[in-house]
Amino acid sequence: MDLSGRVALVTGASRGIGRAIAQRLAAHGVAVIVSASPRSLNGLQEVCKVIRDCGGRAAFVSTDLTDVAARAQLLAKAAAAFGPIDILINNAAGIAAYAPPSRIDLAARQATFELNLQAPIDLIQQALPSMRERRWGRIVNISSEAARQPQIPYIGPAKFVHALTVYGASKAALERYTLGLAAELQGSGVHVNAVAPSQIANTESAASVARLTAVTRPESIEPLELMAEAVLLLIGGNYNGRLCKSRELLQQAQQVLHALDGKTVIGDALTLVDFDNE
Ligand SMILES: NC(=O)c1ccc[n+]([C@@H]2O[C@H](COP(=O)([O-])OP(=O)(O)OC[C@H]3O[C@@H](n4cnc5c(N)ncnc54)[C@H](OP(=O)(O)O)[C@@H]3O)[C@@H](O)[C@H]2O)c1
Repeated sequence: MDLSGRVALVTGASRGIGRAIAQRLAAHGVAVIVSASPRSLNGLQEVCKVIRDCGGRAAFVSTDLTDVAARAQLLAKAAAAFGPIDILINNAAGIAAYAPPSRIDLAARQATFELNLQAPIDLIQQALPSMRERRWGRIVNISSEAARQPQIPYIGPAKFVHALTVYGASKAALERYTLGLAAELQGSGVHVNAVAPSQIANTESAASVARLTAVTRPESIEPLELMAEAVLLLIGGNYNGRLCKSRELLQQAQQVLHALDGKTVIGDALTLVDFDNE
């Protein structure tokens, strides 16, 4: 797969999965614009430095994606760094309130859908005209296992699973949008897919729940590199309209798992997190 010369925008790339995706793309010669809200300036500067120190090209644009007017400028600002965006990774997301579905208030529902659904759609609509014109584009939306309702009654802590309902609904909506858009874009050269961690990716934000869950269900926790590998597969392969889990995608493609340098092989689709040696 030759991605050198391509330009990517990765949202939510100041840490976690977004940062891992940005580093992995840069290792494949992609010029990367990383983005997060202004509260993450340090993280954005740090990821740019890490990429540049490895010989890659990186720039950052800080934008609060819940701010409709600010995010309307994001693609134009990002394109000013290295040219038009070829690859858009809608990764930034959040949970506005940990509240059960019977009580979550309107403000929290609106904030969740604004960040997790409306912002990705706005960014896609900004990116599409140039991708269509050049007949090449890759859009990957990051989803979640929470898009689907788990078994009832819950096996895990009900309080936590209840609290993920509206967040999960926003991700389910993003998946539905992904499929509809893929159908519209069929044959255009622009591909859109969605991928989710199989269950929990071992990011800073998920670290405490990951460590707890790993005690009884180590297979539920995946290393950060797995999502980066899956995203790269979706970009490089001939996929359009796929909704997938990272482990399953790697397994189906019989893809080994690389470190973020894109060279060192660290395992395969079934690789677990080694918490003892972290
Ligand atoms: N980790 C998991 O186990 C897991 C499981 C399922 C799905 N996912 C999905 O994977 C993606 C990344 O997860 P993660 O664990 O890496 O998340 P994370 O560590 O919480 O990072 C989220 C990123 O999004 C940015 N962001 C949040 N609110 C923003 C806003 N209003 N404007 C602009 N940027 C904003 C954050 O930067 P700021 O500092 O600016 O907020 C940060 O860079 C998300 O889509 C998440 O839903 C993760």
